Amino acid sequence: MALDFRHERLKSITNDEDSDLSIAKIRWKMLARALQEGRVQDSLSFPGSVRQFSTFGLIHMSPTDDVANDNARDRWFQCSCLEEPRLKLKIKLLSGRITSEELKGFDNTGNVCIWPSEEVLTYYCMKNKELFGGNSVCELGGGMACLSGLAIAATAGAKEVIVSDGNIRCVENVHSIIEQNSQYFGATHVDSRHLRWDVDDDLNDLKSRFDVVICADCLYYDDGRHALAETIWKILKVDGIAVILAPTRGKTFQYFVDLVDKDFIVERLMAYDTHVWELNCRLKESKRV
Ligand SMILES: C[S@@+](CC[C@H](N)C(=O)[O-])C[C@H]1O[C@@H](n2cnc3c(N)ncnc32)[C@H](O)[C@@H]1O
Repeated sequence: MALDFRHERLKSITNDEDSDLSIAKIRWKMLARALQEGRVQDSLSFPGSVRQFSTFGLIHMSPTDDVANDNARDRWFQCSCLEEPRLKLKIKLLSGRITSEELKGFDNTGNVCIWPSEEVLTYYCMKNKELFGGNSVCELGGGMACLSGLAIAATAGAKEVIVSDGNIRCVENVHSIIEQNSQYFGATHVDSRHLRWDVDDDLNDLKSRFDVVICADCLYYDDGRHALAETIWKILKVDGIAVILAPTRGKTFQYFVDLVDKDFIVERLMAYDTHVWELNCRLKESKRV
């Protein structure tokens, strides 16, 4: 890979939500419990989630029966964000059983909930919409809702937004979300793809295509980081930018920064938004009490 010919910038953002690792431990315990019990429980924050700690409250989800349901288990929510009144997406959250076959198969973390990083990334994108106007945008590892990518598609005047995940159940769910919200996308071309970072064929028509790549909470998995970095490198245009949002979670964030530092211009942001930073500090403070 050429080092100096390209000028991609990789903006790495950490929400430092769990620098003491306690939330990460809770998260993975809950995921394990959800998988063992074969179901996903209601949450205190985003309904449908197994998380038992607060989100940052930046994105709101309220149940809606506005959508004709083919499947009684499907649960639709009206999504909104104070920062962007035009954001009115209807989002289907997965809440069904995770089968033992699925458990043996591909990473299921995207089927469990919308993770806090995705919420914060959505908020960040809503506050920095100028990054996306007229541009081709790709979300990698977007999970069950690809919320950030679809929020961009609905509000930022992007040329195209391709949202993606390696888990087929996530991709199918996002297909139905896109169908349900087509009236909000205007001239923006929107598609949901099954895209695995470790399968080069999945990238065939995507190489050097995107001005912006976004990704939330995908750095936790040791074997995945290298393929993710390669994928970003391949699909970004020469002067493209990637916005990667993730908790520090042990050393995983730093490992990723070390991995990409030699090929990308990396800008690492911690206090990237005053509101999020204050919420983060308050959340940490309340955990100490
Ligand atoms: C923790 S989830 C984050 C999902 C979403 N971004 C969020 O924050 O709610 C990680 C996501 O990465 C996806 N993933 C993991 N390994 C992958 C790979 N090799 N290729 C594509 N997607 C992958 C998983 O399917 C999952 O949806």
